[in-house]
Amino acid sequence: MRLRRGKGHAAEERQAQGTPGLAVELRGVRRQYGRGSGAVHALAGIDLALPHGTFTAVMGPSGSGKSTFLQCAAGLDRPTAGSVRLGGTEITGMRENRLTELRRSRLGFVFQAFNLLPSLTVEQNVLLPMRLAGQRQDRRRAASVLAQVGLSDKARSRPGELSGGQQQRVAIARALVTSPDVIFADEPTGALDTATATGVLGLLRQAVDTLGATVVMVTHDPAAAAWADRVLFLADGVFAGGLDGGSAEQIAARMATLTSRAGAMAGVAA
Ligand SMILES: Nc1ncnc2c1ncn2[C@@H]1O[C@H](COP(=O)(O)OP(=O)(O)OP(=O)(O)O)[C@@H](O)[C@H]1O
Ligand SMILES: [Mg+2]
Repeated sequence: MRLRRGKGHAAEERQAQGTPGLAVELRGVRRQYGRGSGAVHALAGIDLALPHGTFTAVMGPSGSGKSTFLQCAAGLDRPTAGSVRLGGTEITGMRENRLTELRRSRLGFVFQAFNLLPSLTVEQNVLLPMRLAGQRQDRRRAASVLAQVGLSDKARSRPGELSGGQQQRVAIARALVTSPDVIFADEPTGALDTATATGVLGLLRQAVDTLGATVVMVTHDPAAAAWADRVLFLADGVFAGGLDGGSAEQIAARMATLTSRAGAMAGVAA
């Protein structure tokens, strides 16, 4: 993009492009479900700035807004108010087809239910983001990411022939295949045993450390969150502090405080 050099325009463009160096930026994001007295304020004013090449975990009690936050940050849901920028691009109000294109080219997704297509082979599932983006299906790239997740020998299998952990690793290979700037993961290890979860978390960590990706991961598990550089705690739709480089024990202790406070509030409201 060519930048116009006019004085007034420079400030305008800085505004339009957000803060340099940020992979994800949310300002005053709100998401309300329903209206009037029955309205649920799932997100009640989220401000967040995540630099490139960082691994952030988001924790919080059930119903605190974690999935809603992830969906809004990833452009899968539209906030009721506020702004979301990805790699400096304002996505609020972006037309659906442009948003889809941006998601396909620059974002990767990993969900708890792996969302693999059962009728496609593992390799075809991994190639799917390229196919959907209308790009050349790069089979060498697919082989390389499948090797990274330790599944070179399963390229021709169908998802139904794999274990849960193997399926999750296919989902991660699929998220990595387009070398996305940002990977959004909602409970990526929720359905896995400890050893398999460790493997999956190692892959996400590696994407940050060796590929420079930015990872945002929602999790209930303090041991999973301990793989992140930073843990953010959500309570009632707002961020209630963070923890840098905490151990699983420290993270669990913070979560316990948060959950008991949320429980006490619910008790008062009842
Ligand atoms: N489609 C919807 N319609 C109405 N309310 C919704 C909808 N989706 C979520 N909510 C409400 O918004 C709030 C936040 O939900 P969200 O799914 O973001 O929570 P969460 O932190 O991901 O919870 P969990 O840990 O149980 O997955 C909850 O009160 C939920 O009931
Ligand atoms: Mg959720």
